[in-house]
Amino acid sequence: MTAPLLQARHLSKSYVLGGNHKVHALRDASMELQQGSWLAITGPSGSGKSTLLALLAGLDRPTSGEVFLDGTNISQANDVRLARYRKEKIGIIFQEYQLFEELSSLENVAMPLVVTAMTAKQRHAKAQALLETVGMAERATHLPRQLSGGERQRVAVARALVHDPEIIFADEPTSNIDQKAADLVMDLFHSFKQSGKSLIVVSHSKQLSMAADTRIQMETGRIVQ
Ligand SMILES: Nc1ncnc2c1ncn2[C@@H]1O[C@H](COP(=O)(O)OP(=O)(O)O)[C@@H](O)[C@H]1O
Ligand SMILES: [Mg+2]
Repeated sequence: MTAPLLQARHLSKSYVLGGNHKVHALRDASMELQQGSWLAITGPSGSGKSTLLALLAGLDRPTSGEVFLDGTNISQANDVRLARYRKEKIGIIFQEYQLFEELSSLENVAMPLVVTAMTAKQRHAKAQALLETVGMAERATHLPRQLSGGERQRVAVARALVHDPEIIFADEPTSNIDQKAADLVMDLFHSFKQSGKSLIVVSHSKQLSMAADTRIQMETGRIVQ
């Protein structure tokens, strides 16, 4: 067995609310992801799925425990290194798309390339190619509000793929879109995996969790299976 691409050790996350009230969103979670594999995270609402995903993606820091990427401890990395990890290695897809409302489809997709050495022309060409991949080439100049939910998610998927990340993190990527758009997202995930890349996908969708190589089930902040 080769060393895992991503590994979490005893991750916990708690939030202190008013007074002495503490919410344990995640308790002692350990997991690993092999390069080129697809991991599904399932569980009821409020069980800690989004919290775990955010820690693994470096969007948030754990209260205790560690996340290793390629053997590097990213939970202890400084903000600059953490930002570089997110920009270079990962692509993130959210349930609510999280597109920039004032930017066109093309500009949204080109966003992750702004920090690269590419020229504006190269960035736009790459973004246009990704829009074609997700069947949205004709909507390049549309603003998010001029798109349907499924179309917005296709733009969000294009944005997550445009900088050629190592890992895709997706949090309920198909819950707000129609079946046709969901099928397309599935196809894109499959081809991403076929190119040797890895995915972690939180979903209630049976179709999405069955497509994974391994599954993690969560309950009240713990990995139960
Ligand atoms: N920023 C926060 N402040 C306080 N509690 C939070 C915060 N984020 C999440 N929680 C709580 O942590 C628990 C797990 O949340 P979450 O990871 O979003 O669950 P899931 O994605 O499985 O629905 C929930 O009880 C939620 O209310
Ligand atoms: Mg969630």
